[in-house]
Amino acid sequence: MVEIRAVADRAASAPVERVDERLARYSRPGTLSFATLPPLSLYVHLPWCLKKCPYCDFNSHEWQRRTASDADPSGSPLPEGRYLDALRADLESALPFVWGRRIHSIFIGGGTPSLFAPESIDRLLADVRARLPLEAGCEITLEANPGTFERDRFRGYRSAGVTRLSIGVQSFDDAKLQALGRVHDAAQARAAVEEARSAFDTFNIDLMYGLPGQTLDAWRADLETALAYDPPHLSAYHLTIEANTLFAKHPPRLPDDDLAAEMLDHLVQRTREVGIDRYEVSAYARPGHRCAHNLNYWQFGDYLGIGAGAHGKLTFPHRVVRQTRFRDPSRYMAEALADSALAQDVEVAREELPFEFMLNALRLPEGFELGRFSERTGLPIGAVERPLDEAERRGLLQRDLQRAWPTARGLDFLNDLQALFLPSPARR
Ligand SMILES: C[S@@+](CC[C@H](N)C(=O)[O-])C[C@H]1O[C@@H](n2cnc3c(N)ncnc32)[C@H](O)[C@@H]1O
Ligand code: SF4
Repeated sequence: MVEIRAVADRAASAPVERVDERLARYSRPGTLSFATLPPLSLYVHLPWCLKKCPYCDFNSHEWQRRTASDADPSGSPLPEGRYLDALRADLESALPFVWGRRIHSIFIGGGTPSLFAPESIDRLLADVRARLPLEAGCEITLEANPGTFERDRFRGYRSAGVTRLSIGVQSFDDAKLQALGRVHDAAQARAAVEEARSAFDTFNIDLMYGLPGQTLDAWRADLETALAYDPPHLSAYHLTIEANTLFAKHPPRLPDDDLAAEMLDHLVQRTREVGIDRYEVSAYARPGHRCAHNLNYWQFGDYLGIGAGAHGKLTFPHRVVRQTRFRDPSRYMAEALADSALAQDVEVAREELPFEFMLNALRLPEGFELGRFSERTGLPIGAVERPLDEAERRGLLQRDLQRAWPTARGLDFLNDLQALFLPSPARR
């Protein structure tokens, strides 16, 4: 639930830059200067789900086999083999842009990655390892949905090299799961958590609150069920109605803002009581179990994104570049296999970098080291002196000589705090 930007696929007629042309463009001198490059993570997007949830605006697609040529030789209902071929080709095309860099973490997200067989995940990770050096202890997360696996599948993922499982539970209440249009029920949610717990040293439970018709007591009960599993990591998101979803067309009755705020207060208090600290707006972890991959996003690190619709951010000595792969899975596979998976790549304008940095870093209650701002944006800290002062004056931020961090009020009014760092004409 981290990369949330939809970009239309490149028009068929748009000119495709060759790799050497793109590399030459990235290597030109520029006004930014990076002494060191940030840690590099790898995101892999697997875009299929059994059924599209009515609130979901992620790049996820119900798989419907259309032609005999779509059939996978393994018998899987998904074109696993062809998609893995496309991911390998995508990765190979991206190598010249990350030469010499090691991979700090890997996240296999979706969609529903647990629809892919452990053998496929094994092949994917072998393909990655054969092409890119992984840092020692590299965290490798896979998103898994209850109701999409048979017993022992999770152990298969672990044998393939996955070190951390993120389970999309959402709720342990059958009625709420139904209201959310989920394919699993509470018993399957429990079975998935138990299986993850026995197969992995670290795992995450994804929950949502502010669900249709949810009371404070119902949310308390859901949270207690999750906490009873002693999860090393918990992500809890306020259900939002996203444009272009079924819920946007037919909105359900949701708890009002005051009730949702009470739910959040309860969440923050209960997690603190049991020693699972809030380290990001929606993320809670026991010591030693923070998600290294997501932290790298929030600390404005780099990431290569492969797979349909995947986003990437890469730093070069004089610029920061954002990339997007083709969004439609069929088109992505065709383009990636022809070495042209990129739908878009744009250089982030110098004046947009402060906002982009703060959009991430201010999600962390511990904020950021002032030196890291310069290290990651290539700009002097003086570039944000005025908005930092203004944020402090409004009680949204605090700082000392080393760090700046959002206050409790700043976290509550995060959009207002982040907006102070927008380039001038866009600022409210
Ligand atoms: C992209 S989903 C992938 C995980 C998996 N497919 C699933 O849904 O269980 C990641 C998480 O984002 C959260 N999420 C998705 N749509 C949301 C929405 N509209 N509002 C709040 N949270 C949402 C859910 O908690 C979900 O587990
Ligand atoms: S399972 Fe997850 S990714 Fe798939 S449609 Fe539902 S919320 Fe979206």
